[in-house]
Amino acid sequence: MNESLQVELGARAYPIHIGTGLLAETALYGPHIRGDQLMVVTNERVAPLYLEPVRQALAAYRVQQVILPDGEQFKTLEVWNRIFDALLDARFGRDSTLIALGGGVIGDMAGFAAACYQRGVDFIQVPTTLLAQVDSSVGGKTGINHPAGKNMIGAFHQPRAVVADLDTLDTLPQRELSAGLAEVIKYGLIRDAGFLAWLESHMAELLARDADALAYAIRRSCEIKAEIVAADELESGQRALLNLGHTFGHAIETGVGYGAWLHGEAVGAGLCMAADLSRRLGWLADADLERVRRLVARAGLPIGPPAEMTAGRFLELMVVDKKVQKGQLRLVLLPQLGDALVTDQVDAESLQASLCAHVPV
Ligand code: NAD
Ligand code: GLY
Repeated sequence: MNESLQVELGARAYPIHIGTGLLAETALYGPHIRGDQLMVVTNERVAPLYLEPVRQALAAYRVQQVILPDGEQFKTLEVWNRIFDALLDARFGRDSTLIALGGGVIGDMAGFAAACYQRGVDFIQVPTTLLAQVDSSVGGKTGINHPAGKNMIGAFHQPRAVVADLDTLDTLPQRELSAGLAEVIKYGLIRDAGFLAWLESHMAELLARDADALAYAIRRSCEIKAEIVAADELESGQRALLNLGHTFGHAIETGVGYGAWLHGEAVGAGLCMAADLSRRLGWLADADLERVRRLVARAGLPIGPPAEMTAGRFLELMVVDKKVQKGQLRLVLLPQLGDALVTDQVDAESLQASLCAHVPV
């Protein structure tokens, strides 16, 4: 059941290993480590669960660790700086490697530290949430939040390898599993109507953590992400499609306060809002919108934003979206299910109507 995909980026190509028992597989890390100094970056929740097997797998190296507080609210400049304190305290050099052990918050922070430490060192992603295994560990987007906007400070810095051990999902709370499914649904919506239909018929198995269903969903998600990243690493074009629902979602996360809504929950609501707007523009049929809402709801996710997110608050927060060009909002929408595009041609009335049409959560 263990398998590997490749993110085809020429000299910076790297493998994504997906399977069981991988955390302790020394052979998966070795080829991607240049020096002998390793810094495992993890958090207070993940460390007691998975730090030891990773340390054992890396016993041949000089391994240090930095354990950060757990949560999206700690994805800040101040907490991020602790990684540099640890690296400098231990006199880590340019040939050191960071190991990001945790969910997307740890992956983004450790990756961004690797991008900046001594102008760039290697790092390996060891994602332990569904969301991180299907999305954030792949593609090299790294960063931290600013009080004014999600992921506003960061860098593109590709990992040397991704080691996604499905066994780690055994300890993941159900709410976090649902959050990861938002990104999985996203891949079906933007790229693969067949996969979307598969998700509709296998949602119960995914929620019950059926190993085969999860392995397939993770592999298919990584295949789609790897293909898009290989074609457009720095997001000058099609990579923006991976942000379906995220302009709305990031506004919700910032608006309600980081950590109050999980990233995946905000994306779930955002997917429904993007589908709603696509229907108002005459692209999707009513039945398509219903399909999206039903699937998102079945995944255990909200299908609309919280009531406190007024249209005015959305617009205020959406103007700091990273896709804005020349002051113009650009949104990822759906001409049909399984196909997405980026447009700056959304009329103000449709957008306003969509933002006001809150579905109770
Ligand atoms: P997270 O990192 O906060 O992890 C969710 C929770 O699960 C945390 O409490 C974490 O400690 C805990 N946890 C992690 N692994 C566990 C395990 N195996 N068992 C039990 N608990 C575990 O959140 P997330 O959903 O993984 O990631 C969300 C973050 O990822 C956001 O900051 C988002 O912006 C970012 N993101 C980045 C990209 C990218 O391309 N870089 C893509 C999507 C999301
Ligand atoms: N999660 C969006 C991207 O990686 O581009």
